[in-house]
Amino acid sequence: MTATSPRLKHEVKDLALAPLGRQRIDWAGREMPVLKQIRDRFEKEKPFAGLRLVACAHVTTETAHLAIALKAGGADAVLIASNPLSTQDDVAACLVTDYEIPVFAIKGEDAETYSRHVQIALDHRPNIIIDDGSDVVADLVKNRQHQIADLIGTTEETTTGIVRLRAMLKDGVLTFPAMNVNDADTKHFFDNRYGTGQSTLDGIIRATNILLAGKTIVVAGYGWCGKGTALRARGLGANVIVTEIDPIKAIEAVMDGFRVLPMSEAAPQGDLFITVTGNKHVVRGEHFDLMKDGAIVCNSGHFDIELDLKYLASQAKEIKTVRPFTEQYILNSGKSVIVLGEGRLVNLAAAEGHPSAVMDMSFANQALAVEYLVKNKGQLAPGLYSIPTEVDQEIARLKLQALGIYIDSLTADQVEYINSWQSGT
Ligand code: ADE
Repeated sequence: MTATSPRLKHEVKDLALAPLGRQRIDWAGREMPVLKQIRDRFEKEKPFAGLRLVACAHVTTETAHLAIALKAGGADAVLIASNPLSTQDDVAACLVTDYEIPVFAIKGEDAETYSRHVQIALDHRPNIIIDDGSDVVADLVKNRQHQIADLIGTTEETTTGIVRLRAMLKDGVLTFPAMNVNDADTKHFFDNRYGTGQSTLDGIIRATNILLAGKTIVVAGYGWCGKGTALRARGLGANVIVTEIDPIKAIEAVMDGFRVLPMSEAAPQGDLFITVTGNKHVVRGEHFDLMKDGAIVCNSGHFDIELDLKYLASQAKEIKTVRPFTEQYILNSGKSVIVLGEGRLVNLAAAEGHPSAVMDMSFANQALAVEYLVKNKGQLAPGLYSIPTEVDQEIARLKLQALGIYIDSLTADQVEYINSWQSGT
């Protein structure tokens, strides 16, 4: 399964998958015009010449475009998976074969392999780390303090990673600059909401082929990912219940027209449960015990901790794979609970992750965040940095342009008005 060529070290499933990967990467490129423009500029300007870069990301057709753009900019880049189940093996093969990018990622890799790939990435002695979930950065901070001197900075893709970086900041161990890509408007408004919304339902449908119209779907968490998931579930005709722990988000869900309940009340009602909270054991023993026979549970949050599957397994007399990424837990009570994608991100395990059109903006942010770190090398104090508003706005402008959509601009009179406090009633 693992291939190593003397020309280029890598661990991918099968290099023979490269032509399929090439075809799919090219297809994704049709929806990624913003990143393409950035790549063309990087190709000319080579902003990353001489720099070692590690990207820990879901190895998808969209990530391929990011890796290719960074390499075009001169980076000596290594790519590893940010999740054991999200790798697209054909994409990994193509990046090695056609683009000479070392990739260490195999769909279904075990925990030991996943951790070993993190070590291989850190052995590259990165100047820049692009992380998705903060596993590489956390390992660096925990185990390789001596390498922090090599580091210009890091970028973080996802909410879970930002939560971890904030915890590092609080503990005084974030001793380098980290760019918060997740919180850019052109990232989370689109990727987290519409990307997660569509791809989560895509994963559920591919895994189960069930009709969603008329089903009761319980969405745990009403952050941006939960909002998108609930919105799309309703669009497919489901009756959606939202669970929350944040009172403000709960009111938002109510005013968006959803029923809001505690999980203990939602548990007996749901046909399908989707967790998108970023926290652990959101669905646990007390909830599994109340579910209907045949209830389906899945997760679209970053880590596989949202469903307490250890509890479920402890109650099961048999666990049967009934379709790809679909396991039936037959419980001692006689009831069954169906688990999708082993409780890992269902949108990437059972489908292909967010569509390219939203990843275009997310990865434009990543590419420009890396460039920002390099341009400001040595000038940024340790800490967590927002993507500059001008960069966020520029990405939106380029996206609109690519979509052929034009918007108004302020008149001189309006500019004067909004800059003045003197005119009122
Ligand atoms: N995260 C969610 N969807 C993704 C995709 N298509 N590519 C990379 N990372 C993702």
